[in-house]
Amino acid sequence: MDSYIDLPVAPAAKDARRTESIKLYGPDAFKGMRRAGALTAACLDGVADLIRHGIPLSDINTYVLDFAASHNAIPATLGYKGYKFACCTSVNHVVCHGFPNEKKLRDGDIVNVDVTLILDGWYGDSSRMYAVGTPKRAAERLVQITHEAMTRGIEAVRPGARLGDIGHAIQSYAKSERCSVVRDFCGHGIGQVFHDSPNILNFGRAGEGLELREGMIFTVEPMINLGRGDVKMLADDWTAVTRDKSLSAQFEHSVGVTTDGCEIFTGSTKGLHAPGFEIERAAI
Ligand code: MF3
Ligand code: CO
Ligand code: CO
Repeated sequence: MDSYIDLPVAPAAKDARRTESIKLYGPDAFKGMRRAGALTAACLDGVADLIRHGIPLSDINTYVLDFAASHNAIPATLGYKGYKFACCTSVNHVVCHGFPNEKKLRDGDIVNVDVTLILDGWYGDSSRMYAVGTPKRAAERLVQITHEAMTRGIEAVRPGARLGDIGHAIQSYAKSERCSVVRDFCGHGIGQVFHDSPNILNFGRAGEGLELREGMIFTVEPMINLGRGDVKMLADDWTAVTRDKSLSAQFEHSVGVTTDGCEIFTGSTKGLHAPGFEIERAAI
């Protein structure tokens, strides 16, 4: 399928053997991403109805499996590098890639649910934070700061801007709120593969790095901690947690660079993407 052209990128000096190319996508690709993104957003909208004290995380996995099956979609994480679930569920101090296992949600938890649905070959990747009951003020604040960090990163996306502008927008805002950016994970190119170049770092210097061009498609997905930014991997080799056990939060959108800015493919038509503490609380 020739719905993109390859933009060759000069390899970094320290990695001269790797030839990088960044795909520039056309209108057909944007249509495909719009559909996949909307489906992922609708799936995450539905997750909001499940979130309450006492439900096992596996209920969320079952819901995503059923949702995908009934919409002719495939959860991209199933079987991805040996990962066995249809989504990731990361509770409290879990930074990312938590397993949706038998562990139960409890009043006061904050949980990130990360879903990637493949629809007609296109990958819609998005994640949101959900509140269980009434989280402490610090948890609510972290969720709001993380959403704002992602929003500022996305607002930096336009032709002529650089990758460092995205990272800088995220990092400088997190720092101004005395929170830390996790440096071990980043956003990524996306399209007809799950993880493509370029890496979208959540820190950086304004004006540095790859220049953004119309037609690039990637995710913006900062992980922000209340404490230090260091992470530790659990023995399952997937679950990343904060080393200091502080709370961590993340939001993610898949976006495409347009003539004068960007299009968010994974926006919620119900306006549920932003942290809606009132909405989830009302469901209790
Ligand atoms: N959805 C995650 C991302 O945003 C990737 C999860 S990979 C998994 O890139 F295998 F852990 F599910
Ligand atoms: Co992603
Ligand atoms: Co994701």
